[in-house]
Amino acid sequence: MQGKRILFGIGGGIAAYKVCHLVSALAKSGAEVRVMLTKSAQSFITPLTFATLSRHAAYTDDDFWSPAHHRPLHIELGEWAELFVIAPLTANTLAKLSYGMADNLLTNTVLASICPVLLAPAMNTDMWEQQSVQRNWNQLLLDSRYHAANPGAGILACDRVGTGRMAEPEELLPHIQSLLYTGGTRDLTGKHILISAGGTREHFDPVRFIGNPSTGKMGIAIAQAALHRGANVTLVHAPIDAHLLAPLKSIRLVPVTSSADMRHVMREHLLDADWIVMSAAVGDVQPTLYSAEKLPKKDLPIALPLEPIPDIVAELAALKRPDQRLIGFAAQTGDFVTPAIAKLERKGLDAIAANPVDQPNSGFGSDTNHAVFLDRTGRHVEIPSCSKLEMAHRLLSFVDAIDNVNR
Ligand code: C5P
Repeated sequence: MQGKRILFGIGGGIAAYKVCHLVSALAKSGAEVRVMLTKSAQSFITPLTFATLSRHAAYTDDDFWSPAHHRPLHIELGEWAELFVIAPLTANTLAKLSYGMADNLLTNTVLASICPVLLAPAMNTDMWEQQSVQRNWNQLLLDSRYHAANPGAGILACDRVGTGRMAEPEELLPHIQSLLYTGGTRDLTGKHILISAGGTREHFDPVRFIGNPSTGKMGIAIAQAALHRGANVTLVHAPIDAHLLAPLKSIRLVPVTSSADMRHVMREHLLDADWIVMSAAVGDVQPTLYSAEKLPKKDLPIALPLEPIPDIVAELAALKRPDQRLIGFAAQTGDFVTPAIAKLERKGLDAIAANPVDQPNSGFGSDTNHAVFLDRTGRHVEIPSCSKLEMAHRLLSFVDAIDNVNR
């Protein structure tokens, strides 16, 4: 996020305290962050809090009207921002934005800027569900400039359980990063993207299995990147840490455990998908036997009889329509490109991402990755180490270019 210019508009809601974490994380990552607070936001949190976290003075309506600024502040900030994040978005600010009103620093700056705007509403459930609020929300989102971080359900500060909780920082951060990578494009609107993630588990009793160390982070990053670019996303995932799945509330999640489950579900969803990205680490072998009861230690076999697992992606390749795009991953040690070229052909894929799993900051569990993307026309694009989210965006653009180049 080095040098990225992010403007935060804080509305009057208790969720303002969560935005502190975001501002702090972004400032630490090298982004330039500016914050403005509405009058009611200052009843919850002070400009000093945000000034300290962002390493820069925070603005209020007093600055808007101050003669000290030689250029109007809303114009200055509006032109400066690459991304505007309004969090928490109150019913009042939402109503003003949907009518194009401008009566304070925040609303004037929105109108004086042309960058993407990420909106994170937060309010009581009855307020959120009012026809007037829903009308304003839907009206505003007709303008492609505005990106929704939909409120979640849960216990609210008013002790009510329902929809209205502001999206968590863990969900907002990748959305902010996506909008900065892409400039807010929605080039995948109308596409259904089916993604598999995580490491399958091949059980031989209820508590023992053969597995692998995949965390699912790469598949999650692809799902988020696709969602942020307008796609409709289904993520079929092997067991993944709950905290990694929590920010994915706008993605259809289908949990599976074994490769057999994953095979069944992927085949079931195949025909509805435009692109299929098989980033799951599917097992290669499974035990031939399964005991429904936990095996006592004394009955555990010394040698476990194994059988091969069918190759799911190769099966999908044989079943898919020509207009569908099928992308695989090849996690390798040593020379990671040559085997990937062979897999591209052998498995009948449209593209493959070859990534080393024996290099630092790459592969299983890491937040960064290094890869080479290959396709059937011989394109070969090396992606140096970068965040998995950035890699996901670059992969989606690579696949999009297959559509454009070869059709
Ligand atoms: O052959 P290898 O396991 O390295 O291939 C990796 C690619 O194949 C990944 O896209 C993975 O999801 C897929 N795969 C599969 N079914 C298997 C094994 C791997 O779809 N049984």
